[in-house]
Amino acid sequence: MTEQQNIAVVTGAGSGIGKAITLALAARGDRVVAADLDLEAAKNTAAVDPDHIVAMQVDVADRAAVDALREQVANEVGTPNILVNAAGWDRTDQFLNATTEFAEKVVAINYLGPVHMCSAFLPAMTEAGGGRIVNLASDAGRVGSAGESIYAGAKGGVIALSKSLAREMARHQITVNCVCPGPTDTPLFQAQDEKLKAALTRAIPFRRLAQPEEVAAPVVFFASDAASFITGQVLSVSGGLTMAG
Ligand SMILES: NC(=O)c1ccc[n+]([C@@H]2O[C@H](COP(=O)([O-])OP(=O)(O)OC[C@H]3O[C@@H](n4cnc5c(N)ncnc54)[C@H](O)[C@@H]3O)[C@@H](O)[C@H]2O)c1
Repeated sequence: MTEQQNIAVVTGAGSGIGKAITLALAARGDRVVAADLDLEAAKNTAAVDPDHIVAMQVDVADRAAVDALREQVANEVGTPNILVNAAGWDRTDQFLNATTEFAEKVVAINYLGPVHMCSAFLPAMTEAGGGRIVNLASDAGRVGSAGESIYAGAKGGVIALSKSLAREMARHQITVNCVCPGPTDTPLFQAQDEKLKAALTRAIPFRRLAQPEEVAAPVVFFASDAASFITGQVLSVSGGLTMAG
């Protein structure tokens, strides 16, 4: 993967963890498409390293928009060999308060988003004969999280999707791995319920939130030559909050 410049597509690149991943991939020399629903936010990310990063808009929940992104990437940048699905969204509330509209939005962004992105980009990656996919799931999807039942279900789905795709894509030399952040200091986490935030932070053995860069580092590892024989794996980055078997 180091013989020619990597081309990476990162969703959710306008904020938090996706932004940190985009900047870290760019810092090692990759050409990175910073894709986000919020184009202005993606442009702000790209402005940090304009030689390596280009901003594009996408709604990962909308298959037509994902196909349009694929065309734009192919025309303006090339065939990506790295795909990182970091876009995500949630609001904490009791399951009994959840409306159908809320449930469908959570599943559309967090589960169908990675499905659409993998479905759109994998054909070219298989033709090119290799690549790396890294999906951002959540420890909520491994061990559950009160107030996040539907999100946890969607993230559990991302984990199962990643393992199944890893099996199917192995013959194409494409690895598929999952990073599960624990509570991480990003706008998404800060928007959650105050009590839940305080309780989670107290429960972390390190007694602090993760910084987005600490979650980006293992994503960059999975997207590197060093991880060439690692696929279908799930790594928690949670300061010891979860130690799932
Ligand atoms: N922050 C945490 O504590 C935490 C914990 C576990 C998992 N995660 C996961 O990590 C990933 C990154 O989260 P974050 O904390 O950096 O969030 P964030 O809110 O800071 O950033 C998410 C980005 O995704 C974009 N986005 C939202 N919906 C989109 C859509 N439909 N299409 C394209 N882009 C969209 C937003 O505009 C935003 O820029 C998410 O998948 C999230 O579920 C975060």
